[in-house]
Amino acid sequence: MKVNVRLLTSTVIVSALLMMILAACAPDASQFILSPNLSKQIAARDAGAEVTVIKEEVKTLADLSEEEKFAGLPEDVMAEIGKVDPAAGEALRTKYACAGCHSIDGAVLAGPTWKGLGNTAVNRVKSESPAFYLYQSITEPDAHVVEGYPSGVMPKTFKDQMSATELAETILYIMGQTQ
Ligand code: HEC
Repeated sequence: MKVNVRLLTSTVIVSALLMMILAACAPDASQFILSPNLSKQIAARDAGAEVTVIKEEVKTLADLSEEEKFAGLPEDVMAEIGKVDPAAGEALRTKYACAGCHSIDGAVLAGPTWKGLGNTAVNRVKSESPAFYLYQSITEPDAHVVEGYPSGVMPKTFKDQMSATELAETILYIMGQTQ
């Protein structure tokens, strides 16, 4: 079989050129760290400004004062916070069937796991205390919908069903899930 040398040579040259072009277009991974401010950073760079990447601080429950942990809770629930036993929240998980949708061991069911939620709740909504975030998630599930999960799945009935004592017990129980 006769090999078309000219065709072969031009194919090799074209491939090499293509590879060089591709390499030149590849993004420089060290230039930007993906961040919510990326578009602003690119605009700033294009305008000739220096770009600094500031990492957003992630806090844990232990970093907060008592006031910062519980700010915003309604008075009746707040009044129970110092009195109730957080361990009672375990039985309420079954009583209200939370356990059917929320694991405490990291398993993903219909809803997000409560594993580590004591700390996660600190960072979910920056303007809310973790206790208030949890209170609102239980009594008004659509107020903030956790990314990756659908709205309208978690029942909206707990606000009427659960007493202030039970809400305090559940909130403290979840805040105890920090591992
Ligand atoms: C039928 C399933 C279902 C049941 C039952 C259920 N939930 Fe949920 N829950 C969800 C889903 C889905 C989400 C995520 C979507 C959202 O944010 O509404 C969620 C979100 C939450 C969140 C926010 C979690 C996070 O990671 O920020 C809390 C807290 C919560 N539920 C508490 C409860 C409590 C307490 C009960 C029981 C009294 C309960 N849920 C019962 C489905 C359920």
